[in-house]
Amino acid sequence: MKYRCGIFDLDGVLVDTAKYHYLGWKKLADRLGFSFTVQQNEALKGISRMAALDLLLEIGGLGDAFSQQEKEQMAAEKNGYYLEYINQLGEEELLLGVTETFERMRKARIRIALGSASKNARLILKRLHIEEYFDVVIDGNLVKKAKPDPEVFTMSADRLGICYSQCVVFEDSLAGLQAAKAVGMTAVGIGERENLRIADYICRNVGEFVWEQ
Ligand code: BG6
Ligand code: MG
Repeated sequence: MKYRCGIFDLDGVLVDTAKYHYLGWKKLADRLGFSFTVQQNEALKGISRMAALDLLLEIGGLGDAFSQQEKEQMAAEKNGYYLEYINQLGEEELLLGVTETFERMRKARIRIALGSASKNARLILKRLHIEEYFDVVIDGNLVKKAKPDPEVFTMSADRLGICYSQCVVFEDSLAGLQAAKAVGMTAVGIGERENLRIADYICRNVGEFVWEQ
């Protein structure tokens, strides 16, 4: 196999939490009095909580309406809604093929890394009982620059001492695919080609990826 490491985004790749991020932002948008659609939510995927809030407010025509302190309160409000869902999260919400892929990678001695923008990543891994699979976990608490900056992926590869061309990144967001491609990692888009045009490969889930190609 040509890859020595798989770097996995979390939300929307390993677990179906992307829908809970959407519902959290939608509750905030509802309270602020504007509509927010699933298609508009595509642009919020993969980016940091504060960057997502800025985009949401722009969508609602409220780009300059709030102070930094008010924005921090709104981000915390959304995270509160999100955590209500996460606290109910169970292993049945792991996406198709995840555990089988990790088992196969372990046998083939391919390292397993998490590269997520989320500050809730550790909590989610614990709830899903998959934390033990990871050789390294890089999340939103560790990086200074959010996707599309590649820091979250380069930090994973650097900690493992693996060169970037031997890493394959699994991502459901355009920002994440841009980050992977910027440093020469293979980029696998999880989802629809329409939203993920720049991916090297498109799969419906991580189990579909053919490691030998
Ligand atoms: C990413 C999600 O994984 O994490 C984004 O795709 C989210 O939608 C980002 O904004 C930050 O997550 P959190 O859990 O720190 O608010
Ligand atoms: Mg994602």
